[in-house]
Amino acid sequence: MRAAVAASQNFDDPLSCLVVQDVPEPEARPGWVRVRVVASSINPHDLWTLRGVGHPADRIPIILGCDAAGYTDDGRAVLVHPVIASADRGSGDPTMDPQRALLSEMHNGGFAEYVLVPETSLVPKPDFLSFEEAAALPVAWGTAYRMLFSRAGLQAGDRVLVQGATGGVASAAIALARAAGAVVYATTRDASKFDFARECGAHEVFLSGARLPERVDIVVETVGEATWSHSLKALRPGGTVVICGATSGPNANADLNRVFYQQLSIIGSTGCTVTELRGLLRLMQTAGLRPKIEQTVSLENIRDGFELLLAGANRGKIAVKVSEA
Ligand SMILES: NC(=O)c1ccc[n+]([C@@H]2O[C@H](COP(=O)([O-])OP(=O)(O)OC[C@H]3O[C@@H](n4cnc5c(N)ncnc54)[C@H](OP(=O)(O)O)[C@@H]3O)[C@@H](O)[C@H]2O)c1
Repeated sequence: MRAAVAASQNFDDPLSCLVVQDVPEPEARPGWVRVRVVASSINPHDLWTLRGVGHPADRIPIILGCDAAGYTDDGRAVLVHPVIASADRGSGDPTMDPQRALLSEMHNGGFAEYVLVPETSLVPKPDFLSFEEAAALPVAWGTAYRMLFSRAGLQAGDRVLVQGATGGVASAAIALARAAGAVVYATTRDASKFDFARECGAHEVFLSGARLPERVDIVVETVGEATWSHSLKALRPGGTVVICGATSGPNANADLNRVFYQQLSIIGSTGCTVTELRGLLRLMQTAGLRPKIEQTVSLENIRDGFELLLAGANRGKIAVKVSEA
């Protein structure tokens, strides 16, 4: 079968390590099922793997792709919950399992004609979503759902700031927070992206770092260094910043005086549970939400999608069409 593989790692030139090649098909084993992949989506995680960040060299080569939607061998249309973990080891929450692995970290990922996943990772694909839309959800939208509802405890009427509005997680957070009855502010580096953020559901959009009309209850952070200081300043006393990523760098000024004096909460968040993924799908169906897909690329031309993500030029998600539905 064809697959997009991280064949090596290079921090400065990650795409030089990306190879589309023939690999052996996976074979089902007890507790694991084979999914014929119809669609996947590209995440920054795939770039981190190619750069050698958070993925040890001894796990190369590996098939990339954290997301997948397709058909099981017995004909079920599914999407794949990508956190392969044990709830027991995580004290009831598999995302807290110290040995958890996102698809493509320990096990071959979804940029392939077939992917092998635990039976417990399968979630029925709802009819209201195409396979490309379904494959855009588990990592980006699942993470945004957990950040807002499970970690930051969003309530209707809360004021939410979403930094880096046009990213996969950020655009999902805007839509979900709006659907949950929040007042949503968003920032982006580029004024030409304001309309996109409004289409996602933002009430008002600002350039990164701009003063907001009011302090907010929750900030959704994925950008890191470039926006961290603004995120802390934007919070009301007692507010919460919830962070799942640091695209622009991890070493922001902690501003500890502000954290204790304003009694701020800083909450990390990673992935989502199967239960949260199912909740996300129900919320999207009842609220009429769908992910915005900037571009769909074929598996053979997956490099085009990576280049868009690398340039920070994506608005929402980049889907990968692997086979016909
Ligand atoms: N912990 C988890 O489970 C988890 C899950 C998903 C993602 N993540 C992480 O979260 C981050 C965002 O993921 P994503 O899928 O939303 O990525 P993405 O689609 O590439 O979005 C990143 C966004 O950050 C904004 N940004 C602002 N300043 C930036 C800068 N200096 N450099 C680059 N981007 C900048 C951009 O928005 P504007 O152009 O609008 O400013 C960009 O669209 C990544 O680091 C990813 O690894 C973590």
